Amino acid sequence: MKFQAIKGVRDILPPESGLWNRVEQAARDVFHTYGYGEIRLPIFEPTELFARSVGLDTDIVSKEMYTFADHQLRDIEVFGGMISKRRVSKEELSLVAMQTYMREFLRQIDLSREDHMFPETPENVAAVAELKTALHQFEKIVNEEGFRDKDVLASLIDVMQSQADGIHLGDVITLRPEATASVVRAYIEHGMHTRPGNVKLYYMGPMFRRERPQKGRYRQFYQIGAELLGPSDHPALDAEVIEMLLAFVARVNLTGAKLYINSIGDKNCRPAYVERLRGELQKVRDKLGADSQRRIETNPLRVLDSKLPEEQPIIDKLPHIADHLCDACREHYAELKRQLALRKIEYQENWRLVRGLDYYMRTTFEITAPGLGSQNAVCGGGRYDGLVELLGGPAATKGIGFAIGTDRLMLSLQEAGAAAKCALDVYIAWMGVQAYPAVVALARKLREHDFSVELPPQEMKFGKSLSLADRLGARFAVIVGEDELAARQFTVKRLADGDQRRLAEADLLEYLTKSRTA
Ligand code: HAM
Repeated sequence: MKFQAIKGVRDILPPESGLWNRVEQAARDVFHTYGYGEIRLPIFEPTELFARSVGLDTDIVSKEMYTFADHQLRDIEVFGGMISKRRVSKEELSLVAMQTYMREFLRQIDLSREDHMFPETPENVAAVAELKTALHQFEKIVNEEGFRDKDVLASLIDVMQSQADGIHLGDVITLRPEATASVVRAYIEHGMHTRPGNVKLYYMGPMFRRERPQKGRYRQFYQIGAELLGPSDHPALDAEVIEMLLAFVARVNLTGAKLYINSIGDKNCRPAYVERLRGELQKVRDKLGADSQRRIETNPLRVLDSKLPEEQPIIDKLPHIADHLCDACREHYAELKRQLALRKIEYQENWRLVRGLDYYMRTTFEITAPGLGSQNAVCGGGRYDGLVELLGGPAATKGIGFAIGTDRLMLSLQEAGAAAKCALDVYIAWMGVQAYPAVVALARKLREHDFSVELPPQEMKFGKSLSLADRLGARFAVIVGEDELAARQFTVKRLADGDQRRLAEADLLEYLTKSRTA
């Protein structure tokens, strides 16, 4: 059997992973200068966390999450499913079948109890007790009168079904599709609002969405994100977050990046705009595709996200939210633009930038980069002032942040010619068993000085050894044979141009160290 990575996920191998490390280090360095500290978050969370924050009607929650029940009680679950889905009919056969499933369901529960696997919560204990009583009654009637009184038997089954449905085998959990919800959960859980000033956190790691894989879109993908939580919603904070993002973009030499901004209002002005939009969309319903038609009811804003070519002329004529912002939101947006100008940050306004997650309000922004085809958004972010309160935290806390799609950033950098630097500094080509102790000591010494060193475990012919050094992309070969050993020196060859010299150990170290800064 040949194993392969699952569809939509992939391995990141050296030397490419070297480039990933450099980019991640650049994020750490830049974010540090803005006062951000790293938060390491769990990979899975209760499903409810994402359902609440990202929103039930978003693509992410409605169809892309990897969700599962966190328990090992498959047998109980299977019989529970059979009981709960089966319509109760008063046919004798159906009653007998239900009786059998109930018995098996309870038998599996008893078995799991013996193994201490069953969650003995008060609710579960009560439900199992009631189920057992009802089943006992059911069987007593059947034993005494057979299936004559089907109404009574059916109503007993009804009772058993609802008790069975109430049994909770474990938590329903989800592999995180994004991390803002987790950051906010952690902020609340650890009472971080009591910390002085703004809480500034960054994270990096894998996210999971069951999307259709294509270039720049994976089922396990990586994000580098930052979130700022605190009592103020001043637009200067939005501008500084964007400034930090662009400082990172510049640090990694991403060229051709474009910043788009928008304001999507708040709970005071957005509902009226959404109604207006709904009204306009209803007038052109017939000309829209199925997704957009559905969204007229569920979430008209998301229609603005549509990429269908035939919908574009229609969308172009829809009302713009900028014309419907309340005074506070309009002023917030105007000040954001002043703050960006003050920082000499170039941007384009995009009134259709509504973002695919429900928690946003006011500022939204995105960065696109060349070389990515249709999946050209390398970063998305925005303000989410109500989210902390929605998840049970203090209403006064506001938030803003972004997440960079690391995979897409890498693609764009690689298209532009970025390559991982050669990782191997020194290859030691040695001959003669007497040389081995000396080269082991040399390799250790060089590694202590942070050089990456390849030391072949067995003697090789010089020609073969040097050719391997070349193919490995080493910068230097250090040659140790009988002559070198006798002279207590090393021959060092710069592989790029063949420059060769003989040096004592101390001089060799100095020579290699100088070459590193050259
Ligand atoms: P998002 O727009 O869903 O926002 O994702 C941010 C970025 O992650 C996207 O711009 C894209 O580069 C990358 N991305 C998303 N899905 C995939 C995928 N399937 N494959 C590859 N890359 C992908 C968020 O996740 C928000 N939490 C951002 C945020 C933080 N807003 C405020 N704070």
